[in-house]
Amino acid sequence: MQGISLCQKYQDYFSIGAAVSEETIKAHGELLKYHFNSLTAENAMKFQTTNPKERVYDFRPADPIAGFAKENQMRLRGHTFVWHRQTPDWVFQEGGNPRDKQEVLGFLSDHIRTVGIYFRDKAYCWDVVNEAISDEPGEYLRDTLWRRALGDGYIETAFRTAREHLPDAQLFYNDYNTYQPEKREKICRLIRGLKERDVPIDGLGMQGHWGIGRPAIDEIRQTLDIYAGLGVRLQITELDISVYDHGDPRTDLTVPGPGMLDRQAEYYGKLFELFREYREQIDAVTFWGIADDATWLDQFPVQGRKDWPLLFDTQGRPKKAFDAVTNF
Ligand code: G3I
Repeated sequence: MQGISLCQKYQDYFSIGAAVSEETIKAHGELLKYHFNSLTAENAMKFQTTNPKERVYDFRPADPIAGFAKENQMRLRGHTFVWHRQTPDWVFQEGGNPRDKQEVLGFLSDHIRTVGIYFRDKAYCWDVVNEAISDEPGEYLRDTLWRRALGDGYIETAFRTAREHLPDAQLFYNDYNTYQPEKREKICRLIRGLKERDVPIDGLGMQGHWGIGRPAIDEIRQTLDIYAGLGVRLQITELDISVYDHGDPRTDLTVPGPGMLDRQAEYYGKLFELFREYREQIDAVTFWGIADDATWLDQFPVQGRKDWPLLFDTQGRPKKAFDAVTNF
């Protein structure tokens, strides 16, 4: 590898991460080592993978990722203990009947303890709770199986349990659409409430699944200002910029359409200029993937529609967006 290294360029600002799988590490190991100094397991450290059955833990999918991070002196973000997705049914029901509260509480606690301790020397932070705020107007917390089983206090319980076993880890709440005013209010309410009750929370993860030009840079600036006032560390945890506008009818592009990559580069450039301004608050910016050959956006929001949301192309070559974020 030659040329500008992304993480070196940003060494005085924040760490630069990528979400990875064992496969994408194999495909892009050199690129990762050269440009990134932090990793998140895209799926391998989630509940359904690490704890697929009652009392059964499986770290084989995560081990190569944690190993790669360690070998290459990269930081590792833990993702995620408590989420309404990718959590197996056995946690909430047995033989079709809902479990009682104490049982579910026991599983939550056992999971955080076992997985947390396994990765204690590897993961410096954890997304303790992911996406617990409702997107519905007027509704505060999302209706999830965790909440149904444990009540609203499950968030607090998760953070307290994590701190009990991981005294040194940074504990995060992580969510998407964190810039939307109503959701932002609810996130502030959650974090203020936790802090008032001395619940150990260190940071807020703003995911960053955005599109060209959305949200507007000013909306993100306002959002950073508001969250900076909460007294928690901030991270951009899952950044990717879809090349499609809302309602773009095209589903059959095999290469980016005219102008898409230029507009994407311009937006990425402005975004990183803003992030650099907030370097005192932002500790890490993590991309949700490495290169455009493997991205969850190929399946979302349109199944099978190719997207090109990252800084490296399908061959792992730097795109215009890479130049835009490193040209300062
Ligand atoms: O591993 C199986 C494979 O064996 C099977 O053949 C295949 C068939 O569909 O599915 C594979 O599992 C998929 C898994 O990704 C691994 O590729 C699941 O179906 C698919 O649902 C899963 O999607 C993941 C998604 O979370 C699940 O909610 C995405 O990869 C992952 O990028 C995405 O990540 C989330 C963050 O954790 C939280 N924030 C939002 C973000 C994007 O949705």
